[in-house]
Amino acid sequence: MKAAVVDRAGGTPRYREFPDPEAGEGQVLVTVEAVAVENVDRAIVAGTHYTADAFQAALPAIPCFDGIGRLPDGTRVGFGGVVPPYGALAQYAVVPAAHTAPIPEGIEPPSAAALSSAISAMCMRTAAGLSAGETVLVQGATGVAGRLAVKVARLLGAGRIVATGRDAGALEGLKALGVDAVINTAVDDDDLVRAFRDQAGDGYDVVVDYLWGRPTEQLTRALTPDSFALSKATRLVQIGESAGPAIHLTGDALRTSGLEIYGAARNLATGMAEAYQQVVDWVRSGELAIDVTTMPLSRIEEAWARTDLRGTRLVIVPD
Ligand SMILES: NC(=O)c1ccc[n+]([C@@H]2O[C@H](COP(=O)([O-])OP(=O)(O)OC[C@H]3O[C@@H](n4cnc5c(N)ncnc54)[C@H](OP(=O)(O)O)[C@@H]3O)[C@@H](O)[C@H]2O)c1
Repeated sequence: MKAAVVDRAGGTPRYREFPDPEAGEGQVLVTVEAVAVENVDRAIVAGTHYTADAFQAALPAIPCFDGIGRLPDGTRVGFGGVVPPYGALAQYAVVPAAHTAPIPEGIEPPSAAALSSAISAMCMRTAAGLSAGETVLVQGATGVAGRLAVKVARLLGAGRIVATGRDAGALEGLKALGVDAVINTAVDDDDLVRAFRDQAGDGYDVVVDYLWGRPTEQLTRALTPDSFALSKATRLVQIGESAGPAIHLTGDALRTSGLEIYGAARNLATGMAEAYQQVVDWVRSGELAIDVTTMPLSRIEEAWARTDLRGTRLVIVPD
């Protein structure tokens, strides 16, 4: 079969022949239709992700661990559970039958492939219990996941949405999605603290944090009162770390700021099914558009090198 193949650690996937995978006991052969390339996939290929060793234990290997495809009976499914050196960026994948789930009618494969970022944005409800009318701050709102979080916040009835990013033009573009205020994080620390405070309105109820690192560190400063007053609660959901893997969190920032920090996976076991169904309903009704850029598998090297896709998910389609 044709596949995108990584031949050496840290290399770029190349389009070439690779042995067909064979389905064993309890496994199914999937004809791949669409695969979203996310930061995690790039980090695994670059060797900087903590799962990189497992996924690339033996090279050559095919990147990406999930996608959309058809079973031999024609059923369209989402699939995961590929066993390295096989991956999703190929014409075919073999996965455990239990790691497939039907894709509802009315959602095209490229959108389906990129659905997971919209579903994970539902953490503002599942992990942080967002109620209609509350104020939401999306950290990293110019990215693919952040833009979807803005749309999801609007659909969930957020009262006020504040968005952060580091590109003035991209931030301005978010206003068309219903963002009420934007904050550029590409300023010095004190200016950033001031901007967080200026745009807080009655206070941030929920923060969906795709950044972590310096911007979130400065947010905790902004949330900390400089008198003996207690602040109202801010439920921050940690979901990404585009700006850095760690923050310096002072004791007083936690003690007096009202800050509560949750992981995006909180309550996922009980809330996942409802979150998934809600996102599917929005996509099928046209209320939630998932912005994708599709490219054929045969042009994987060119696709992998693209840096101009801010805000849209790269989706690879076998040709
Ligand atoms: N846990 C989950 O379910 C889940 C789901 C989706 C995403 N994520 C994570 O969330 C993060 C964002 O994913 P994505 O797909 O939206 O990525 P993306 O499209 O590359 O967007 C990244 C965002 O972070 C900003 N950013 C990047 N580097 C930065 C830096 N050094 N300082 C400040 N801002 C910076 C980008 O700003 P520019 O627009 O200016 O580049 C953009 O707003 C990643 O860590 C990803 O792994 C997690």
